[in-house]
Amino acid sequence: MTKITAAITGVSGYVPDYILTNKELETMVDTNDEWITTRTGIKERHILKGEGLGTSYMAVKAVQDLLKKTNTKAEEIDLLICATTTPDMVFPATANLITAEIGAVNSFGYDIQAACSGFIFALATGAQFIETGKYKKVVVVGGDKMSSIIDYTDRATCIIFGDGAGAVMLEPNTEGYGVLDSILKADGTGAAYLHQKAGGSRKPATIETVQAREHYVYQEGTTVFKFAVKGMADVSAEIMERNNLTADDVAWLVPHQANKRIIDATAARMNVGPEKVMLNIQKYGNTTSGTIPLCLWDYENQLHKGDNLIISAFGGGFTWGALYVKWAYDPK
Ligand code: UT7
Repeated sequence: MTKITAAITGVSGYVPDYILTNKELETMVDTNDEWITTRTGIKERHILKGEGLGTSYMAVKAVQDLLKKTNTKAEEIDLLICATTTPDMVFPATANLITAEIGAVNSFGYDIQAACSGFIFALATGAQFIETGKYKKVVVVGGDKMSSIIDYTDRATCIIFGDGAGAVMLEPNTEGYGVLDSILKADGTGAAYLHQKAGGSRKPATIETVQAREHYVYQEGTTVFKFAVKGMADVSAEIMERNNLTADDVAWLVPHQANKRIIDATAARMNVGPEKVMLNIQKYGNTTSGTIPLCLWDYENQLHKGDNLIISAFGGGFTWGALYVKWAYDPK
């Protein structure tokens, strides 16, 4: 029987209009453009403003454009998986809100929460439904409105994160293109270093939790940084070795955009030069589940059929992993 793989047949993205620059952050907390640029590589990030707009607002924009680009009717979608850490509501799943909004009446959907690794976990999961032959069109969307859980008085976190969403279409392929391998990992002991203290079932919202500012991202940055450098570099090297790929064989590294120094360390470990590394952290910051599809969106015109991509991420949980993807189409 011919092997079916899940090819990425289109990509799209959306970032909100408002741009929060390092200069503006200088007026909000004790920081400066030079510190932010040298420590993280970030210059600006986009922020979703407006009453009542959540992650689904950005995801819907990305998916609607994806449908247009891939000439797909909403009714044709079989499944939509949404990776997010900032769902519109605790329930129902943001995926359900997206499918309703775009009119994907024949699709079911659910969310995957794996913090900054959410998109690769969702992509690997969506690919399985294609590989089994069960579904023909699976949309994987990753997005986060990080500004909804960021403390803009905490200079250690507010400089890093931004809002945005990106989406890909997965379809069956029998010529060997698409998601060819994945390594996904998790270690819950890492939860201590990166989490949100209140708002979950362990500590529901109260006046006290709000006053104690416990509904924001809590991060022990230096510890997370150390684990991220090792985790992302190790897993990227591992997936290359396991697929007999040398640095020459790799066309692109598609790294989660958390800190340029983590990205540089991963590329160095893979022996891949900067010209092969997708980078847009300078303009979006860390959009959590959005970073990887936003990279693919920004670089789509430079991708060619047959390009070997190593996609890797590290995030809260801890969660991390890498995917080996053979790109399925030339620039259109
Ligand atoms: O995507 C999910 C996973 N998250 C990550 O991968 C993030 C990983 N961590 C990081 O990217 C980095 O740890 C940060 C960017 C968060 C922080 O960079 P760092 O080089 O680890 O800085 P640090 O926390 O060790 O702080 C160094 C100094 C401190 O001052 P002292 O104690 O040396 O006087 C901080 O108070 O820098 C100070 N600092 C700042 N200074 C100016 C911390 N934040 C700022 C700031 N502006 N925004």
